[in-house]
Amino acid sequence: MSLTITLRRPDDWHLHLRDGEVLQTVLRYTTRHFARAIVMPNLKPPVTTVQLAREYRNRIVAALDPEAQFTPLMTAYLCDQTPAEELRRGFEEGVFTAVKLYPAGATTHSEFGVTSTAKVARALESMQAIGMPLLVHGESTDPAVDVFDREAVFIEETLTPLLRDFPELKVVMEHITTEQAAQFVSGDGSGRLGATITPQHLLFNRNALFMGGIRPHYYCLPVLKAERHRLAIRRAATSGDPRFFVGTDSAPHLRVLKEAACGCAGIFNAPSALQSYLNVFEEEGALDKFEAFASVNGANFYGLPLNEGTITLRKQPSEVPEDVQLPNCAAIHPFLGGSTLPWTLVDGPSP
Ligand code: DOR
Ligand code: ZN
Repeated sequence: MSLTITLRRPDDWHLHLRDGEVLQTVLRYTTRHFARAIVMPNLKPPVTTVQLAREYRNRIVAALDPEAQFTPLMTAYLCDQTPAEELRRGFEEGVFTAVKLYPAGATTHSEFGVTSTAKVARALESMQAIGMPLLVHGESTDPAVDVFDREAVFIEETLTPLLRDFPELKVVMEHITTEQAAQFVSGDGSGRLGATITPQHLLFNRNALFMGGIRPHYYCLPVLKAERHRLAIRRAATSGDPRFFVGTDSAPHLRVLKEAACGCAGIFNAPSALQSYLNVFEEEGALDKFEAFASVNGANFYGLPLNEGTITLRKQPSEVPEDVQLPNCAAIHPFLGGSTLPWTLVDGPSP
């Protein structure tokens, strides 16, 4: 009898679902594993208002398979001019769960993001007052800063002053990738700072980008880091520290747009994310900590109830599809596509 593990249904606290045909195609890979997801607002145009978030949420719900049990949790895309009142209204009406801060120019579709914390001070004050979390893409946008140092520089130059100036603001440092970030979050004593960690940053270091040639399907932002950073975030994720939780950052792009002279940043990991995390916890001898990381810590951070249902995975190989096809013949190549995972989902709807 092979090993099985049953846990409370997990949530994905950082997810890109896109829109239109891509949304329709990728959504089921998330809903077969996750009960809820924090949905990123970096559409074109970005989700900046309550009205746009309501409409996007309706499109997500309309795209669900009939048997899916899934709640999308919407976020507002913060711009320099976003009125504090719009954020407060969206939060109080149950449309916005949180606000996403992209430093302008840091990543995919971030061109309408924030140019300086001072410009959004009123919005942050209001969020602090009502307990509305701020989710940060924590990378410096200074072109003079080495791409591998951008997270550490952001912590020093932007995040530290922001936490000092808004001492009650709830903040999630999204997709942490470095030893500095892991230490910064675990050393914080205020209880209002959390962090998400992706499967790719737990499984691979930056060598993966250059294995025998350039590997666009391993390219995301923040970029994969050196081995010592991978080991540090593995320790953080598997430590049982409640400040760390799942956030896949699954970010689909068409294969043709990644395999290009200027390939897009983003890894579509929804088909394999949960099994990948589980594999990491097994390798670290921390299976007893997996449910907290996947299904408890994030909900507690956001002050949301834990999910009632369970899912079961078995230690049995499963294949990741080489490609996920879109109706128009385009394809998305998933993370670990064409390879075999050691764990298989044995209940829940299949895609
Ligand atoms: O690699 C990334 N892709 N990082 C981000 O921050 C955005 C995401 C996307 O939307 O594709
Ligand atoms: Zn993201």
